Amino acid sequence: MTSVGVGRARQWQTVEMSSDSLPADAFGTLRAIVEDRRTNMLVDRDREVSEDIVRDLCELAMWAPNHKRTWPWRFAAFSGDGRVRLGEACAQDLIAAGSDDEFKIQKVRSKYTRVPCVLVVGSAPDDHATFHDENRDAVSAGIQNALLGATSLGLASFWSTAPVIDGAHTLELCGFESGTRLIGMIYLGWPTGDTLPGMRPDLEINIISS
Ligand SMILES: Cc1cc2nc3c(=O)[nH]c(=O)nc-3n(C[C@H](O)[C@H](O)[C@H](O)COP(=O)(O)O)c2cc1C
Repeated sequence: MTSVGVGRARQWQTVEMSSDSLPADAFGTLRAIVEDRRTNMLVDRDREVSEDIVRDLCELAMWAPNHKRTWPWRFAAFSGDGRVRLGEACAQDLIAAGSDDEFKIQKVRSKYTRVPCVLVVGSAPDDHATFHDENRDAVSAGIQNALLGATSLGLASFWSTAPVIDGAHTLELCGFESGTRLIGMIYLGWPTGDTLPGMRPDLEINIISS
């Protein structure tokens, strides 16, 4: 049994941990990483994010909870000219979806070259409606794992929405099966600057104990 402090400094309480494998003050460390993660696009475009790091982040993502063990996460990592191909595929998906917004289409063509690495994360489809939705939940939880891993390594990250969530051109380029939903276009890079400090509203929680 390990005892760790939980909560803000003025609200410390002791919780008995059931695992001996965690380092002392694991919660404090986790909390620091969680609160330190910021959506940040200020990165060095020319400093690569290694494939090993990308693999580590994807493996972290796969430790997210997943109902029915459907293992729904799908990953495709883009760097170099691959980022240009990703932009073109997304632009073609916008056009196929009926967009005639030339400004937006042109922007999508070049947007992924702003960072050295873009990790596209998809959620596999499921015939069962509930599992289909829960797959997406699991993938989102996985993305957060990856973002926290990136933060812990000193990487900047940015979770952005795909231009078309099920665009056929992007799915094909990624090697994802038809019906996969694109849950995150994750920008990764080494930071050159900080964003604004993070903030969250005060906690509100309804405690029902009897
Ligand atoms: C599912 C999801 C999709 C997002 N898509 C975008 C996006 O398309 N563009 C964007 O600027 N930010 C996007 N964000 C990032 C949020 O804007 C960001 O998390 C929010 O501003 C809070 O900032 P923080 O991450 O630094 O706490 C997305 C976040 C989530 C969870």
